[in-house]
Amino acid sequence: MKFDKPAGTNPIDQMKVIGKPLDRIEGPLKTTGTAKYAYEYNELNKGHAYGYVVGAAIGKGRIDSINQYAAKNAPGVLAIVTYENAGPLQKGKFYADKLLAGPDIDHYHQAVAVIVAETFEQARSAAALLKITYTRVKGSFDLEAVKDSAITPQAGQFGPPPQTELGDFEGAFATAAVKLDETYTTPDQSHAMMEPHAAFARWNGDKLTCWCSIQQLNWGVRDLANVLGIPKENVRLISSFIGGGFGGKGTVLSDIVAASLGARAAGRPVKLTLQRPLIFNNTTHRPATIQRIRIGAATDGTITAIGHESWSGNIAGGRTESATAPTRSLYAGANRMSHLRLAVLDLAEGNAMRAPGEASGMMALEIAMDEMAEKLKIDPVEFRIHNDTQVDPSNPTRNFSTRQLVKCLRDGAEKFNWKRRQAIPGSIREGKWLIGIGVASAIRGAPITKSAARVRLDKEGMITVETDMTDIGTGSYTIIGQTAAEMMGVNIEKVIVKLGDSAFPESSGSGGQWGAASSTSGVYAACVKLRESVARSFGFDPEKTEFSDGKVHSGNRSVALGDAAKTGDLFAEDEMTYGELSKQYAQDTFGAHFVEVAVNMYTCEIRVRRMLAVCQAGRILNPKSARSQVVGAMTMGVGAALMEDLVVDKSRGFFVNHDLAGYKVPVHADIPYQEVILLDDVDPTMSPMKAKGIGELGLVGVAAAIANAVYNATGVRVRDYPITLDKLL
Ligand code: MOS
Repeated sequence: MKFDKPAGTNPIDQMKVIGKPLDRIEGPLKTTGTAKYAYEYNELNKGHAYGYVVGAAIGKGRIDSINQYAAKNAPGVLAIVTYENAGPLQKGKFYADKLLAGPDIDHYHQAVAVIVAETFEQARSAAALLKITYTRVKGSFDLEAVKDSAITPQAGQFGPPPQTELGDFEGAFATAAVKLDETYTTPDQSHAMMEPHAAFARWNGDKLTCWCSIQQLNWGVRDLANVLGIPKENVRLISSFIGGGFGGKGTVLSDIVAASLGARAAGRPVKLTLQRPLIFNNTTHRPATIQRIRIGAATDGTITAIGHESWSGNIAGGRTESATAPTRSLYAGANRMSHLRLAVLDLAEGNAMRAPGEASGMMALEIAMDEMAEKLKIDPVEFRIHNDTQVDPSNPTRNFSTRQLVKCLRDGAEKFNWKRRQAIPGSIREGKWLIGIGVASAIRGAPITKSAARVRLDKEGMITVETDMTDIGTGSYTIIGQTAAEMMGVNIEKVIVKLGDSAFPESSGSGGQWGAASSTSGVYAACVKLRESVARSFGFDPEKTEFSDGKVHSGNRSVALGDAAKTGDLFAEDEMTYGELSKQYAQDTFGAHFVEVAVNMYTCEIRVRRMLAVCQAGRILNPKSARSQVVGAMTMGVGAALMEDLVVDKSRGFFVNHDLAGYKVPVHADIPYQEVILLDDVDPTMSPMKAKGIGELGLVGVAAAIANAVYNATGVRVRDYPITLDKLL
């Protein structure tokens, strides 16, 4: 089915199942520990062995020699694979990293060997006996130091154009009545998802099955086939449950390659998981940025010039962090520029992490907006509202499909009691605590992409949905079940949802906030076809057939849905594809974040006290799972503002705090009262579901709202994240 004009009324609009706050249908499997994750497929892989990945011990250089003797003769060892015996290996498409390195080493902890043994302990202990000698060469590890060597990168598959200019930015900025020109920095961050990267690989002749933990099975099949140099048809990936991804499990990484190579060498199924201390330097991370923001405005607060430049680094072939993306579309202003620059850094690959681009960019832009509001002596909420626009500032020939930023800000201000905020920092005290209140806007693109599904009806009236969509903890199972239930006129209990198998029809996968809207649209398309065959099987006109309460109605006739499958199951499969609507309209999601902090006057300890997010993200398919997405994202925003920081050893070239003891993320005690308001919003330009993603929106702007609240409490403006207490002293 092709979606190429705005959606009219359709069965989803009934909202009998869609839009209801249903519990996750897979929830009991998770809370009882019976949901199977990649590392747990033991029964299917009898006689399996264990793999252990060895990471490079230098930041940049090459391997001189590998002496396997002691490791190979260690107890239980079945195989050792390095670049010397792996055969030719290519790169995948999405990640630039070489997933089994040698002899050249591009970054610290890049995978250099996999040891396969009878037990995990034997594999780990043999790894310690593998003798690798290296020659270290001088690498580049300090973004600030290489900033001036950065170049304007090529336009990437995702993200904004690297360099844009509208009107006369320099001229308008030079003559603006009120100006800001400041530089902000964001650190390297790690996804730190709960489930480590893990894979269970089994060969059957030249056919490979791999149980794994990745977000995009279609990319995974493509990339694994590419890396190993085998046909795509010979690769099957299964990811039924995923313990968090956040962009760090987009597609194939070293765990899957190592398990596959290890299983081939040992002639046994092999399972392995990346040990936690390897993950931070071996896999990808959100790259650090240096961002310069210039804003010029008239004294009434009208922005006349807005410019955003951002520098980040990466290994060769790596992408740039597209931090300028939000500035292109968020506020009005005739004269604008944006410029991304990319430097070479020999650290682990920088790549997508939840709201890549927008999250980093808004950490800077929304502090800058707070600073401008103060210079202008305008309330920060009013300053943002004053510069709202319904026309896409980056492309003034088109409008936003739906944009309720003003309502997000107004409703939030009302609900949060914004009136309590005092413009002069440090005005509110409670005992030894200084109280501050901050705000930030949020914007995140609403991409949508083709997605297929297969549905089956049996004689009991049960609907089974199959698609290779993944559920990374987001609630895909449930919203897909709700979609099929709504379309076929049944309760959610009558729907079985099967996800995460590349043998199923190819879906959008989970990434870039496109999963929810895209995958349910594919299910919609398949259900339209199933409805037609059901209607025809009863001799009904499909146009005049209705589905409700497990029955099919046409004229004065009503029959049980399952009767259509009396003589055999009915199947339907389809793919939703898209025309040009996403070019005709700017499709984005919007929000506003409000935060109250308390800062200890003596120790400068920062406590977040209250948080509110108001979000506009199309039709909300399930308010409970959508709220969970936003609450999780707000929590991540607290981490970004106050804690998260991969500390770079700039002489040796690696992230020092590469485990969950050293890399701090919020715990329950850090998280206060959180509230989420989801605005009514239906966007018929998106798809027949009229929905958008929300999982990344919830993060965008949170850190800046906290930064602004800290400033409001203390009068100290911190422009480099994270805002740790030493920066307030
Ligand atoms: Mo997302 S960072 O594209 O999983």
